[in-house]
Amino acid sequence: MSFTIPELCTSRLNRCELAVPGSSPKFFEKAAKSNADAIFLDLEDAVAPSDKEQARKNIIEALNDIDWGDKVMSVRINGLDTHYMYRDVIDIVEKGGERLDLIMIPKVGTASDIYALDMLVTQVETAIGRKKKIGFELIVETALGMQNIHEIAAASKRNESLHFGVADYAASTKARTTSIGGPNPLYGVLTDPAEDGSRDYHWGDMWHYAIARMVVAARANGLRAIDGPFGDFSDPDGYRAHGNRAAILGCEGKWAIHPSQIDLANEIFTPDEKEVAKARRILEAMEKAQAEGAGAVALDGGLIDIASIKQAEALVKQADIIAA
Ligand code: GLV
Ligand code: MG
Repeated sequence: MSFTIPELCTSRLNRCELAVPGSSPKFFEKAAKSNADAIFLDLEDAVAPSDKEQARKNIIEALNDIDWGDKVMSVRINGLDTHYMYRDVIDIVEKGGERLDLIMIPKVGTASDIYALDMLVTQVETAIGRKKKIGFELIVETALGMQNIHEIAAASKRNESLHFGVADYAASTKARTTSIGGPNPLYGVLTDPAEDGSRDYHWGDMWHYAIARMVVAARANGLRAIDGPFGDFSDPDGYRAHGNRAAILGCEGKWAIHPSQIDLANEIFTPDEKEVAKARRILEAMEKAQAEGAGAVALDGGLIDIASIKQAEALVKQADIIAA
């Protein structure tokens, strides 16, 4: 291990993060009763400029009046390049009450963006004597943000998670797609001809680099990595495939932009019972091995060693948080 150990952020269950437009209060009660672990009430791209002010009022009222149970509550503010942002922060933090857990910051580009918001939020929190410190979730969805992701992830003690905003990221990098997430058939590999001359074409995952980079930046700074939206809500198999890839790389959750995606996200990001049982067996076997002075042992015909303990512990910890 390095002498530097990343400090872990506040632990929260974040398998499904449901997006709800602040301009559509008719969806609020249903969202509160849903199975989503976290909800973000949106002031940004799902809200038309003419609705921004009303959406802010709706969100403040909802944070104060609706019973959100034990959900993690977040508000997505507008970007730092807009004149809506300062009013979003001031009004939401001043009047949103203690029920607000997080602020979601879109299109983060530099560490200074986070510094500026930390300063503003700190001032408002101090002025109103807020008891609980608000955390930040950061959407990395521009080429600039992806370039500076490591500094961004380390920019504030309020940071809790990095989110991959695939739609804006595609726009910013001029990626050749018009869908929100999912693969593109043109991004593939044609194998060399086999002996009989036949060739295979394999689709690739054009988002692999971005998600893997985000996971590294998040974990190196003790944060959660969360995969963003999958636009085609009539394609549960596509959502599952995309979510599984993100989960396998280390993401802890994914957005739902439609209620039909909530249970899918929960299923994908809840560790499989068999995997958890195996992880518990690894921990037992390693405990026994260590008591006997061994650093590595065989289990089910494979080698396990001290690194296996850490892998197993991460899985068991996540299963225990879900079960709690
Ligand atoms: C989310 O905000 C996205 O742009 O995908
Ligand atoms: Mg976006």
